This record gives sequence, C-alpha cells and structure tokens, in this order.
Amino acid sequence: MRASFKFISVLIVAIHGDPVSKTRTFPQDFLWGVGSSAYQIEGGWNADNKGESIWDRMVHTYPDKIVDQSNGDITSDSYHQWRRDVQMVKDLHVSTYRFSLSWTRIMPGGYMNHVSTAGIKYYSNLIDELLRYNITPMVTIYHWDLPQRLQELGGWTNPEIIPIFKDYARLVLEMFGDRVKTWTTLNEPWHVCEYGYGVDYMAPSYDFPGIPAYLCTHNMLKAHAEVVHMYREQFQKRQRGRMGITIDSSWMQPKDANSPEDREASERALQFYVGWFAHPIFSKEGNYPKVMIDRIRNLSREQGFGSRSRLPEFTEEEVRRIRGTADFFGLNSYTTYLVHPNDHNNSVNFRVPSFDHDMGVVQTRDPNWQGSGSTWLKVVPKGLYNLIRWIHREYDGPEIIITENGVSDRGGLEDYARVDYLNSYLSAVLDAIEDGVNVSGYIVWSLMDSFEWKAGFTEKFGLYHVDFNSPKRTRTPKISAKVYGHICKSNSIDWSYRPVLDEQQLVAMAQLPADDDSLAKASGAASTATIWSWSLVLLMVTLVGLNTWHC
Ligand SMILES: *[C@@H]1O[C@H](CO)[C@@H](O)[C@H](O)[C@H]1NC(C)=O
Ligand SMILES: *[C@@H]1O[C@H](CO)[C@@H](O)[C@H](O)[C@H]1NC(C)=O
Ligand SMILES: *[C@@H]1O[C@H](CO)[C@@H](O)[C@H](O)[C@H]1NC(C)=O
Repeated sequence: MRASFKFISVLIVAIHGDPVSKTRTFPQDFLWGVGSSAYQIEGGWNADNKGESIWDRMVHTYPDKIVDQSNGDITSDSYHQWRRDVQMVKDLHVSTYRFSLSWTRIMPGGYMNHVSTAGIKYYSNLIDELLRYNITPMVTIYHWDLPQRLQELGGWTNPEIIPIFKDYARLVLEMFGDRVKTWTTLNEPWHVCEYGYGVDYMAPSYDFPGIPAYLCTHNMLKAHAEVVHMYREQFQKRQRGRMGITIDSSWMQPKDANSPEDREASERALQFYVGWFAHPIFSKEGNYPKVMIDRIRNLSREQGFGSRSRLPEFTEEEVRRIRGTADFFGLNSYTTYLVHPNDHNNSVNFRVPSFDHDMGVVQTRDPNWQGSGSTWLKVVPKGLYNLIRWIHREYDGPEIIITENGVSDRGGLEDYARVDYLNSYLSAVLDAIEDGVNVSGYIVWSLMDSFEWKAGFTEKFGLYHVDFNSPKRTRTPKISAKVYGHICKSNSIDWSYRPVLDEQQLVAMAQLPADDDSLAKASGAASTATIWSWSLVLLMVTLVGLNTWHC
C-alpha cells in the first residue's frame, strides 16, 4: 500500500505539476452551458401524437444501421424526466442550457395545419422550469430530426422546405420567443447535408454523392436567412434576443507543416467544411468560398456536366440576403485531422463526383494522438485553438460561442479522461481568448448519456450517467459533472480539483447494470481510470486534513 501510494503521488506531481499554478480564470461575463438534442434524449417518439421524423423512420426500418441496433424510442426519457434534467443543469452551476425542439412534436406532419398543444406545452414547461432557476434557455430550432413527410418531398433538397421551415420557426418564436433570448436556427448543416445526403450515414441516408448535399446546403442557407430576417423584422425588437447558427468542423492540420501543398490542403479543407456555410453568412463578400465555386465548376465540366456546376449559384440578391444573418458564430468542434492533397490520379479512390473528391483532401490521424470512446474523436486541444483563431481571422473577429465540445467514453462514473479533456480544451480556449479571439461562451456536450446516433448507446458523452435499464432512467453525476460544476461556479479551470466518488456515486456504481461494467472492462481507458481513482481514494485517506484537494 505504501509503495503504491508513493508511486501514485510521484505520478500525480509528474502529470499535473504544481496544482496552484494550473488555475486559470475566464473573463467575467463568460457564458457557461451544457447541451443536448431532442432526438437523443427525449424518447416519447410517438407520445401524444408526435409525428414521425426521419430518424424514427430510419431506426425502425433499418435497425442494422445502428451499431447496437438500438433507437431513440425511449432513450433517456426526457419527455417525462425533464424536471430532473433541469435539476441536473442547475447543479452544474451553468447559466445556459442548450437543447433542441423536435419539429414533429410541435407540428406532427411538418406543416402548420396541425399543431400539437402537448408538444408546445412540453417545451413551454421546460423553459419555465429553467427560468425558475435563472438558467437561460438556448434553443436550437433544427437538430437533424426532419418530419418524415417532408423528406418524402425531397427534404432539404427541395426549395419548398424554405417557406415550410419558416412557418415552423414563426410558430416557435410566437410560442417561446418571449422567454428564449438565444436561438440557433440549424445545428451542423455539414452533417445534415453531406452525412445525410452525400453518403450512407445519418438519416435520411441517401448515399448520393456529389449533388444533393450541395442542394441541401443551398436551401438550408436560404431557410436560415429567411428565419433570421423574419426574427429581426417581426420579433427581435420586442423579444430582445439573439439568433445565430451552429457550424461544425474539426481542425484540419497540414500533415507536414513545412509543405506548401499540405498547407494549401488545410486551407481548402477548412473552406469546404466551415466556409461552405460560414462564407455566405460571415464574410464581407458573401457567397460560397471562391475555391469551392472554381473547383466544383471545373470538375463538373471535366465530368461531363456541361457548364452548369453541381454547386448551385446564388443570385446577387440572394448573396446580399444571406450575408450578415447571424448575431454570433456557433461552433461545434471535437477533434483534429492531418491533411494532405489527393493526387491527380485520385489514388485514394474517392467516389467521382463527391464532396471528398471535390475537396481533394485526404484526412488521416496521428497514431500517437490520445483516443476516446469514439474512433473519430482524438484528443488534440491545440486543434480547437487553431480552429477558432482561423475563424477569427477569416471572418474578421465574430463573436464565437462554442456550442459543442466534449468527449466520449464507454461508460462508468469515473471519467477522469473527460475531466482531462475539458481542462485541456478549455485551456486552449483561454489561450485563444488571451490572443484576442472573441469567444464569449462554452457549452459542453453533453448533459447526459443518450442515443448517440449511429453509435446507439455504445458511446457516452454525458456529464451524467443514465441507467438505461431502469424504467426511470436514473441519472447519476459522473466525476466530470462535479468538475464542470466547479469550473462554472469558480469561472476557472483548476487541474488540482479531482474529486473522488462520493457516497451517492458509490451506491449508484454498485448498482450499475452489467453492460456498463463489461463496457468498462472492455475499455482499457476505463479500467485504467478505475485503478487510478482507487489509488486516489487511498491517497485521499492518507492525506486527510489536506484541504487543497477541495476548493
Ligand atoms: C479552373 O479552370 C480554369 C480554366 O481552366 C483554371 O484557370 C483554374 O485554375 C481552375 N481552378 C481550379 C480551382 O481548379
Ligand atoms: C498517375 O498515373 C500515371 C499512369 O498510371 C502514373 O504515370 C503517374 O505516376 C501517377 N501519378 C501519381 C501522382 O500517382
Ligand atoms: C465580442 O463581441 C461582442 C459582440 O459583438 C462585443 O460586444 C464584445 O465587445 C466583443 N469582445 C471582444 C473582447 O472583442
């Protein structure tokens, strides 16, 4: 025991250095938040006549598309457990809860001819409960769950979606805009368009590369702009809120920093991932990035599409109408890729045509980067720093709110890897703020374990554990919930704050379902964390009386 204690304390000093010097404070009015999305947490997929969304349709028709063949029919059951959710949000000491509205819960068929009072009441209650505790709701109008009926019209590839989305947005502004002061129109349009239409990944899973994703984005940008104009003209003065959009990207790091080709590939990838949506809205000139317009026009011609580019064109009037339609830049980012250009022979075999081929960039990872519970998510905090610096430079210093950042694991309450992720990514954000980037808020993903899209319930992003085997979907704070609560309350990161499981957590852990247990055993990181934390328990016992561990 003694030997192990000495070993561990040496390790702690080695890894974390002097704890006191590792405390860093954020600007005074920094916004702290936590996020979720409707389909991932609500369940109640057909409760009170909720309509069918494209996710309902996909998981029911093709269960094999989900890693564990699960679905969001019940998931974390927030349709019934919303009061408990608000308690959890309150216990995190955040000022903001970011959640999304389910279109088909409010308008079961997608159109305004049929509005569900139960759906309106659900969100109205949730908003009131948040406000009771002084928590600001930040509402995403669209987070991927399109009404199935609208998909049958072509979904986002059909320009008819623009006025229909506007009707939906008008209703939610009328119903909730008196109490909701921060809105985002669309969550991650890149995922909606390329992963939904270009490849067989997210619903509706078209697997039609190189054409519909560009139509989808064209219509999403117009729909977003129409909603923002409507908000500014008819609601904003009275309701005094703000409206933005959430764009997602990883940092695209040149594989060889000294190679001009790799640096060009990095810039091009950022224009394809971020600029596709951000350039029309946030740049001075508006419209798609020039490199996208030129490349896709040239490739379309070479591929025999004639003079009409697969990338649709905006009229001058449309360019003006879209430009400037955001009060802040919402950014979701988790990880980094290494990039180098595809060669002229397309040796990596991208489909032709496709988004990847149009971009002409190959993405790889550094095998030394630390992993997580998701293969795509490697821990590279400096990447977030680089990305927000790039956005700052490219769009002339917009106000950035990081609307999603977080990490997955495979289960359990002792998520010290998540604690380290949050501390290191927040350090990177603070570095950028100190270098003049205007980041006004940070919203961790996610409030609780939930249905993680294609990964089902195999990957956990929550600060709260959810017992999916209990009918009440019992929620228990993980270690990271305590640490994030401490961060939000103190407005600072403190590497020395590493609490151990308390009595409530130990009891909950003893009752964890077997699958959590086996998942923890299956994952090297999780079992290391367990050994680590038991060593910490020993350490705590030895260090009784030393207050520096508790702040
Ligand atoms: C597109 O083609 C034109 C004319 O051949 C050429 O000058 C230009 O460099 C090409 N642009 C890109 C981005 O491929
Ligand atoms: C492309 O293919 C041609 C013919 O097979 C070959 O000569 C050339 O070296 C290849 N170029 C690259 C960059 O791989
Ligand atoms: C950040 O942007 C907001 C909104 O434009 C502005 O009020 C604030 O002064 C900016 N802060 C910094 C540090 O530039």
